Amino acid sequence: MMILVTGATGSIGRHLVRLLRQQDKPFRAFVRDPDRARELDCDLVVGDFGDPDSIAAALSGVDRVFLCSPGAQPTPGSQPMVAQQTTVIDAAVRAGVRRIVKVSVWGARPGGLLAEGAHAEIEARLDASGLDWSILQPSGFMQNFLTGTGAFTSGGDLLGAYGQGRVSYIDCADIAACAAVLLSSDLGNGRRFVLTGPEALTHAEIAARLSEALGRTVSYIDQPLSDFADNLVAQGLPAQFAADVATLYADVADGSLAETTSAVHDLTHRPATTFAEFLSRERDLLRQWPPRHYG
Ligand SMILES: NC(=O)c1ccc[n+]([C@@H]2O[C@H](COP(=O)([O-])OP(=O)(O)OC[C@H]3O[C@@H](n4cnc5c(N)ncnc54)[C@H](OP(=O)(O)O)[C@@H]3O)[C@@H](O)[C@H]2O)c1
Repeated sequence: MMILVTGATGSIGRHLVRLLRQQDKPFRAFVRDPDRARELDCDLVVGDFGDPDSIAAALSGVDRVFLCSPGAQPTPGSQPMVAQQTTVIDAAVRAGVRRIVKVSVWGARPGGLLAEGAHAEIEARLDASGLDWSILQPSGFMQNFLTGTGAFTSGGDLLGAYGQGRVSYIDCADIAACAAVLLSSDLGNGRRFVLTGPEALTHAEIAARLSEALGRTVSYIDQPLSDFADNLVAQGLPAQFAADVATLYADVADGSLAETTSAVHDLTHRPATTFAEFLSRERDLLRQWPPRHYG
């Protein structure tokens, strides 16, 4: 068995690499910058999603692939992840790979906005590929609040337009643990797993947990959707992208990510990580908090 881990330096990938190393599984990490990836402390194969030859070379001798690339981008036309991931799927078929475990998103559906529509397109390509596959459809990442995907004021308050909508944010380490199970077994072939944390929190409750972990008050400031979209445009993001993001926020406010599932426990046989446990583990990252602001 040989596993290729794409997105190895990312929020999920770095945990997956750590787990596969601990479990002594044979794997290599597909990275674009070997210097930046050195801290992964594993076999590296250098390549780029934009370079099909490098993908073909990386797949030599590989029978299982973890497929993960960056999320939605404010670029016009098709989302870059579609070309990136379908190139890997097509190359995997040619290389005789047997199984792909793909990171998608909860709510992926044809015609969906941004990542939801793009992932649905990739899922369909994977389904038609003839390969064995499992698809992970995670809720929002807890890591968003530490890595810059969340939005903060310059004073460190949490910004959003979620109202009282609850979100069952998940720890990327739990997504990686599920992926490790599926990559090292034949479980879950042809199945989609909606992965969530163990609790669904409002953003006011998340601000309270951040306050406790940081020892200072963090408030949640709820903005009208139109203000939130205007802020994104003021930062230079395209109007259509801002409008799509605002629509997704409205869905979240309506509870689109509010359920919890037992999939993490079912696959890993241990409970999913709570937000408080996540913050306690990530004390070092919290020292650089807040990661950025939209003030
Ligand atoms: N954020 C959320 O709340 C959320 C929720 C559900 C699903 N998702 C999905 O999760 C996925 C992102 O996962 P993540 O957060 O773990 O990823 P991430 O932290 O954004 O990392 C992306 C990875 O892809 C690599 N990469 C980027 N461009 C590349 C290229 N041209 N060639 C080769 N490698 C490249 C990056 O390497 P470098 O280190 O070289 O940049 C990095 O390892 C997306 O598909 C997103 O839709 C996200």
